[in-house]
Amino acid sequence: CGIIGILGSKEVAPQIIAGLKRLEYRGYDSAGIATLHDGRLARRRAPGKLSNLDEALSATPLPGIAGIGHTRWATHGAPNETNAHPHMTERVAVVHNGIIENFAELRRELEDKGIVFESETDAEVCPQLITYYLQTENMAPVEAFKKAIGRMRGAFAFAAIFSGEDDLMICGRKGSPLAIGRGNDEMYLGSDAYALAPFTNRVTYLEEGDWAVLTRNSIDVRDEAGAKVQRQEVISSASQGLVDKEGHRHFMAKEIHEQPEVIAHTISRYVDPSTKTVRLPNGVFDFAKLDRLTVTACGTAYYAGLVSKYWFEKWAKLPIEIDVASELRYRDVPWTKNGGALFISQSGETADTLAALRDARANGQQIATVVNVAESSIAREADIIFPMAAGPEIGVASTKAFTCQLVSLACIAIAAGRIRGTLTAEEESVLVTSLLEIPRLVSEALKQSDKIETIARDIAKATGIFYIGRGVSYPIALEGALKLKEISYIHAEGYAAGELKHGPIALIDENLPIVVIAPKDAHFEKTVSNMQEVMARDGKALMVSCKDGIAEAGGKTWAAIETPQTHPMLAPIVYTVPVQLLAYFTATTKGTDVDQPRNLAKSVTVE
Ligand code: G6P
Repeated sequence: CGIIGILGSKEVAPQIIAGLKRLEYRGYDSAGIATLHDGRLARRRAPGKLSNLDEALSATPLPGIAGIGHTRWATHGAPNETNAHPHMTERVAVVHNGIIENFAELRRELEDKGIVFESETDAEVCPQLITYYLQTENMAPVEAFKKAIGRMRGAFAFAAIFSGEDDLMICGRKGSPLAIGRGNDEMYLGSDAYALAPFTNRVTYLEEGDWAVLTRNSIDVRDEAGAKVQRQEVISSASQGLVDKEGHRHFMAKEIHEQPEVIAHTISRYVDPSTKTVRLPNGVFDFAKLDRLTVTACGTAYYAGLVSKYWFEKWAKLPIEIDVASELRYRDVPWTKNGGALFISQSGETADTLAALRDARANGQQIATVVNVAESSIAREADIIFPMAAGPEIGVASTKAFTCQLVSLACIAIAAGRIRGTLTAEEESVLVTSLLEIPRLVSEALKQSDKIETIARDIAKATGIFYIGRGVSYPIALEGALKLKEISYIHAEGYAAGELKHGPIALIDENLPIVVIAPKDAHFEKTVSNMQEVMARDGKALMVSCKDGIAEAGGKTWAAIETPQTHPMLAPIVYTVPVQLLAYFTATTKGTDVDQPRNLAKSVTVE
């Protein structure tokens, strides 16, 4: 979910909408705003995308120069209007991001006192609790807020405005980020600096456990214990402009087509083309001494991590532990003394990844991240930032961020190999030469768009589809299946090619297409055998391979997509393009909401 709050000097509703537009990546199940006018609170909420709220506000505007807004990714309670934020009483309106773990207990306590709740959300306990302290215990807003936040367990961020208090906003964070923006006689609050960028670049980040009392001219920050603290104001470089589709039908299409350029930018951050070597930023892990690297991420970023496992093992002979963040966190990982932990995230705001990062830090690991958003929570909490230069990614299904993550990870693994003495200068030079060819090969791969669009018309009729790959192509099978699921809502599964025969093959018949990721590498023949096993059972095989591979083994397949040949270990970067296009065109054939698919959020800010 995304939060915004403004103590302004002009009508605040349009400004809140502008801020929320920039927070939609955090969820778009419903949205709402509350303002203060003549000392009274009023709100407008709407289920679905922000545009619905915008329409509701055009029909019935909400006056006021102070207000809060929210865009929701539903956790507790359906994404309808009643469950949309802000939640309020006559005394206070609250927006909330995260989960209040003990909400059921608090709700029962308040209901026992006769308080009636209107929604099913965990968030509503916040305004009800504050109101209870204001009314029954006669507390002032600051005291009531402080007492309420002290009683709530979980990972969350809040903002509250109070009736009769035109120059007051109180906010607090435990786990979820909050940024305060100072204007001229105006004060802003947002889930990130990007949301504040249209209004101000003077940003103060709240730290864990902080809460703050804001007026138009003052910021009073307290730590969890209530002691006054100073948090430094920084000048944010978050860009003001909203990214535009540049003539494409969807952001996802634009982002897929941007890949040759952004991959080249990312390569240029690491590679010295004249010496054919990789350079890493200063102060990175001492790879020579590292005894293990723990790689953690969620979703697509996790699959980038999975590819890197093959790279680190092959080039750097470095033991890799890899898991999704929501699992790693709760395992008893036997952390090593000279271990490093690497977190991969496009947004840098994924709550599971952030929680795993904090856990690794508590266990004495050095923390590095491959992250796209430079001012994000994960970037700010890491010791080492490995850059990627994907630029803003708007489409919810990650595309260019994934390939740029792969490029960054390949470079890190190559450098690690050199430092550990497991990769010769000659091998490094071969790999760097191959990396430098990738942007051109990705452009080549994009030329198959029309053909893939035709194939996608058939895929769109399927009720299920498998993707298989072997070795370094296995994670691309997983990513291909995820991409298709996310935006076309067709059930898809990725398997290691060799595993198919150990169970999933039972599902193969003429109605279940199977995408075979088969670059010409050391595993090509084995993967082709797995494809033959499918075809022998009337399965429809779609072979993704290079010209030679298709000539050699593609004869009897249902369809084939030609993909340029590259260094076999770097094939995942290029072979991602056809699986992205296949998902994209399947979704456009089905007419789904490609950029904002149902039930998802670009960045999930709850654990
Ligand atoms: C969400 C998105 C996925 C994304 C994952 C990790 O679930 O829907 O597309 O891969 O978060 O996001 P991150 O920003 O951490 O890479």
